Amino acid sequence: MNKVKIRKAVFPVAGLGTRFLPATKASPKEMMPIVDKPLIQYAVEEAVQAGIRDMIFVTGRTKRAIEDHFDKAYELECELVARNKTEMLEFVRNLLPKSINCIYIRQSDALGLGHAVLCAKSVIGDEAFAVLLADDLIESEVPVMKQMTQVFEKYRLTVLGTQEVPRAETASYGIVKSAPIIGRIDRIESIVEKPLPADAPSTLAVVGRYILTPRIFRHLENASPGAGGEIQLTDGIASLLAEESALAYHYQGKRFDCGSKLGYLQATVEFGLRHPEIGRDFSNYLAGLKVP
Ligand code: UTP
Repeated sequence: MNKVKIRKAVFPVAGLGTRFLPATKASPKEMMPIVDKPLIQYAVEEAVQAGIRDMIFVTGRTKRAIEDHFDKAYELECELVARNKTEMLEFVRNLLPKSINCIYIRQSDALGLGHAVLCAKSVIGDEAFAVLLADDLIESEVPVMKQMTQVFEKYRLTVLGTQEVPRAETASYGIVKSAPIIGRIDRIESIVEKPLPADAPSTLAVVGRYILTPRIFRHLENASPGAGGEIQLTDGIASLLAEESALAYHYQGKRFDCGSKLGYLQATVEFGLRHPEIGRDFSNYLAGLKVP
């Protein structure tokens, strides 16, 4: 029986981030800031708001900055004390509530998202857990992971965050075929990784938010490399469907695909315009820009 509360979240951050090279050559994509906060922090804050306490980062080479970001920064704190920058000091010290545990696991080779999730198996144990991909930044009134934990608490099944995408873009996503249950919730009939537009069973795409039951691990262990030679989470979920139902949840919110340059810039502009410190000046600047 699955525990009702989701207590653990996995953050796969071991990808190569090739679309942002050379920026991601020596530092992680997930540390790229939207204005003044790194992507990974938005994702962790979303998990905290969903009541999750154990944050499990699946990291790789060049990802030390993530561990440092959530750790105590002695030298910086000493400097801020010396310069009497009390407000900044409090800010840096209280990045996360004290009750949060950060756990780091290494994925030595970037063998795919499914493999990254499998790396967290021993820490997760026999309970359902969340997966958040930090490069999908989603703005919403109720944090998306909180929306999804509420669905899980009711149905106790795997829940995938989904949204409609243009048919021309299906080859960038896992795509589900589903039947409506109620409101924003569908039952998934099938799922396929990155289908060509002509082959896609629908235009309902899986985004970077998942709640998975622990049975997924067995299916990931048995999965063979799929699209791109990687172990795909989508293939593990497709195999899971043979023994367990899963739900598609049409989340409420606005998503920025910060794994792509355009999405990253769009997020930067929109968050910049709403930023309490520089929003007004930035808006004036944009209004005065002459677009060639
Ligand atoms: P992406 O498909 O966005 O790949 O991974 P990527 O390597 O991060 O970026 P590009 O496409 O080369 O530019 C989706 C998520 O899965 C993680 C990534 O860190 C990202 O959060 N991932 C991917 C891993 O943790 N390990 C992997 O082996 C692959």
